[in-house]
Amino acid sequence: MTLLIASSSRADQFAASAMAQDPSLDVRVAPALGRREDIRYALAWHPEPGLLKTLPNLRLIISIGAGVDHLFRDPELPEVPIVRFVDPDLTGRMTEYVAFSVLHHHRRMSEFRELQTKRIWKYLPEPAAHQVRVGIMGLGVLGSAAAAALKGFGYRLRGWSRTSKSQPSIDCYAGPEGLEAFLSGTDILVVLLPLTPSTRGMLDRRLIAKLSRHGRHGALPGPVLINAGRGGLQIDGDILSALEAGELYAASLDVFEAEPLPHSSPLWSHPRVVITPHIAAESTPQAIARYALQQMKSHERGEEIANLVDRARGY
Ligand code: NDP
Ligand code: OXD
Repeated sequence: MTLLIASSSRADQFAASAMAQDPSLDVRVAPALGRREDIRYALAWHPEPGLLKTLPNLRLIISIGAGVDHLFRDPELPEVPIVRFVDPDLTGRMTEYVAFSVLHHHRRMSEFRELQTKRIWKYLPEPAAHQVRVGIMGLGVLGSAAAAALKGFGYRLRGWSRTSKSQPSIDCYAGPEGLEAFLSGTDILVVLLPLTPSTRGMLDRRLIAKLSRHGRHGALPGPVLINAGRGGLQIDGDILSALEAGELYAASLDVFEAEPLPHSSPLWSHPRVVITPHIAAESTPQAIARYALQQMKSHERGEEIANLVDRARGY
């Protein structure tokens, strides 16, 4: 079996892990393709546009990420099946990031940190978890796992997805018609949506203005945004103006319209914005290589492919 690694980052690590796990594997690292006809599988993250279509015997594209928008940037992406990365390693890491971020803002840690820099000993009121309503946009693999973890702290949960759902302990809303009702009862908004033509740019000032401004019990000083989905979902400038206008109390942002976030962005220095460099769920090369090998072997055996991407939906 021949696997091409076409990745803008950590390519050599993926190659080394794949070879360590299956020494019989023929692994190539783009742009050194060798004989193109040999390549049946591609493990890809932001592949060079046009590259994959030059592989005449390509059978399966395995996305290094759970998100696949990086593949659809290629206008010549070949019409072979695509599987995305779905794995306990990634899910566990994202669950930690979401739980940590929700707790951080619920417990007003950015303000305590600021007080600490000034050596000020001051009480700030903090609501109980059951008084805080966390709304999760995207109730898929990652959103559902995050909800299960947040439930353990006692938060009140609601979720929004494309299709209707019924999940225990979560008030479920769906589609554009359910969006306003979902937002109006959300104190902390967690975004775990894929980037598709329908979701691009939706986290703008208008959407932020629809978040609950009065927690039922006066829960938090204002709404909070946590985006660990994709930067293309948000308008960075709108988040900043909403923060400055007091429409948003705080934010944790792992993803940005442009990555790396430009040095000049005022988001870097906002006291109630937590910035991380797209690391909410960075899986190990070992976990990704293991997953790729499983997918390739099951494809070779002619089994049904798990975690297939629906091209029409874009995720
Ligand atoms: P899933 O495909 O399992 O879930 C996606 C969810 O989003 C589903 O509930 C889906 O609805 C919902 N959705 C999609 N489009 C719409 C829409 N137009 N309106 C409303 N809901 C919509 O994906 P995962 O949970 O595995 O991953 C989610 C995203 O997280 C990835 O696409 C990726 O962008 C991001 N991610 C970020 C990482 C990071 O490090 N920052 C790491 C990993 C992933 P339905 O259930 O009805 O289909
Ligand atoms: C992903 C990511 O999509 O890391 O998995 O962003």
